[in-house]
Amino acid sequence: MFDRLQPQSPDALLQLIKLHAADKRADTIDLGVGVYRTADGGTPVFRAVKAAEKRLLAEQESKAYLGPEGDTEFVKALMPHIFGPGEARMHGRLTGMQTPGGTGAVRLALALVKAAGGRRVLLGTPSWPNHAQIIEDLGLEAVLFDHVASEGTADAAAVLTHIAAGTADAVLLHACCHNPTGIDYSAEQWNELAQALADGSVFPIVDVAYQGLGRGMEEDAHGLRAILAAVPEAAVAYSCDKNFGLYRDRVGALYMLAADETVLPVAASNANALARANWSMPPDHGAAAVRLVLGDGALSRDWQEELTMMRDRIRSMREALASAADRAPGVGLAELLHGNGLFAMLKLSPEQIVRLREEHGVYMAASGRINVAGLTEANLPKFVDALARVSA
Ligand code: LMR
Repeated sequence: MFDRLQPQSPDALLQLIKLHAADKRADTIDLGVGVYRTADGGTPVFRAVKAAEKRLLAEQESKAYLGPEGDTEFVKALMPHIFGPGEARMHGRLTGMQTPGGTGAVRLALALVKAAGGRRVLLGTPSWPNHAQIIEDLGLEAVLFDHVASEGTADAAAVLTHIAAGTADAVLLHACCHNPTGIDYSAEQWNELAQALADGSVFPIVDVAYQGLGRGMEEDAHGLRAILAAVPEAAVAYSCDKNFGLYRDRVGALYMLAADETVLPVAASNANALARANWSMPPDHGAAAVRLVLGDGALSRDWQEELTMMRDRIRSMREALASAADRAPGVGLAELLHGNGLFAMLKLSPEQIVRLREEHGVYMAASGRINVAGLTEANLPKFVDALARVSA
C-alpha cells in the first residue's frame, strides 16, 4: 500500500523549527513559526495558565470522556470575550464546541460547508498556507482574491466583488492580525463586508487565531462582531494557542451562528458527527486550564495583563523596525507600522531569504513572512544589518 504513495515535502513553516534547532551558531534569529517570544527570546507558559494547571493537578478527579463537543464550560467561558455585548442578541442562534486547536475548528467549519453541498471557498491571498491545504484536502475549491492593496492596506474591494457576484459558497476571513501580512481590514471595510455578506449568499467563516495580540481583545473582535450582527449564519474558528500560549496543547473552539433556533441543533449535530469521525474528542487539558483562568477574577486579570504586555512588546518591535527603514530601503520596513500582531511580509527575493539564513543565521518563511515577536532589542540591530547587506 505505502509503495503507491508519492513522497510529500514537510510543511515548510514547521520545517523551519527543525532547521533552526539544528543551527549551532550562537547568534541565530528565529523569525519563523508564529509563537510569541519574550524580550529574552523565550516562550514561557502564562503565569495564570501555570496557576490553573496546578489547580487542575490538585483538583481534577476524572479524565473520563466528555464527548465530541469537549469541555462545554470552556466554550461558554470564552464567549463574552469573543462576542461581547452582541452575544445576548444571538441568544438561541449561537452554539459552540471545543476543537483541537483553531486548525480543528477551521477544518470542521469547512467540512460543514462541504456536508451542506458547498464546493467553492473564497480565500484571500496570501493566507496561512494551511488554509489552502485544508480546503484542498476536503476536496473543496479555493477561489482566490487579493488580500492586500498595493499601498499596504487591505483590499476590501477584491473580496466585496466576489461576495456581490456570489462566486463561491463560503468565504474564509482572518478576524485580526492577518497571517501572513499583518494587514487587517479597517473598521469601515469590516462594516462594508458585513453589509455585503448580509445582502449576498456567501457563508462567512471567520478565523480568530490572534485575538488580543493586535490592538486589544475588544478592538481585535470588531470585524467579527460586525459580521455576526449582520448575517443570518456564520462559523467562527477560534484559537487559544497564541492568546493563552497553549500552542502544543491544541486549544480551540468552533462557534456556529444559525438563522434560527430550529436550524441550530441540526448544525451542531452535524459538527459533532464530523468531529467524531475526525478526532472523536478534543484533548482536554489546555481547555480546562483556560476555563479555570476565565472563571477566576484574579487569574483572568493576570492573563489580560500578560497579554497586554505581549501586545505592547510586539508593537514596540514593529516601531523599532520601521524606524530603521532607511537602513534597508525597498524591504518594506516602514509598512510594519500599519500592521497588527505577530506577522509582517518583507519584500525579499527567495535568494535573499536563503542568504539571510545561510550567511546571517536569520530564519524566516520562504514567503518573506517574519514573526515580529522573534525580534528583541538585543537582536534587532543584527537583523537590520543583515537586511541591509542582502538588500544592498
Ligand atoms: C504560523 O502560521 O506560524 C502558526 O499559525 C503556526 C502554524 O501552525 O502554522
